[in-house]
Amino acid sequence: MRTLAALSLVLVVATACRSAQGGAGGAGSGAAARNATPAEVTPARVALGDSLFNNGGCMRCHGQKGVGAQNGPALNDNTWDQLTTGSFEEIRALIVSGVPKEKIKVTTRPNAMGARGGRMNLNDEQITAVAAYVWTLSHQ
Ligand code: HEC
Repeated sequence: MRTLAALSLVLVVATACRSAQGGAGGAGSGAAARNATPAEVTPARVALGDSLFNNGGCMRCHGQKGVGAQNGPALNDNTWDQLTTGSFEEIRALIVSGVPKEKIKVTTRPNAMGARGGRMNLNDEQITAVAAYVWTLSHQ
């Protein structure tokens, strides 16, 4: 009985810590080390990235909140089209470079992803913010 009580306490504390980190709850994969939040991913950046992504050009191809759409893959399901492994650094680099037509894996998507958000022409801080937002979509 005592062991059970101690275990529940550990669980409660662990849950409280997770919410304190600003996560929106979520399923929790248990892969804590892999999912450790990169230092660049701050609440302020995620908020800025959210507004750039969902009010700007990204949602046109990737759908509202990155759920996916005809011209762009979902970014919230932690499956990646081999362009990145989903790490923060790779996501950021891919937003800088964009995806030229010849590098698109799924060829039913006809349109290249522009470098730095194409017409959005994101500066470095905005790119870090959008990358932070995209990272949280699959790590919360
Ligand atoms: C014109 C359509 C279009 C726009 C606009 C666009 N993307 Fe993309 N994005 C794509 C395509 C196409 C791919 C590659 C999919 C493939 O290879 O099949 C891609 C891939 C990605 C990937 C890599 C996904 C993976 O599985 O590795 C990320 C991350 C990404 N986009 C983020 C963004 C962000 C952030 C923005 C806004 C700054 C954006 N995209 C704007 C079309 C677009």
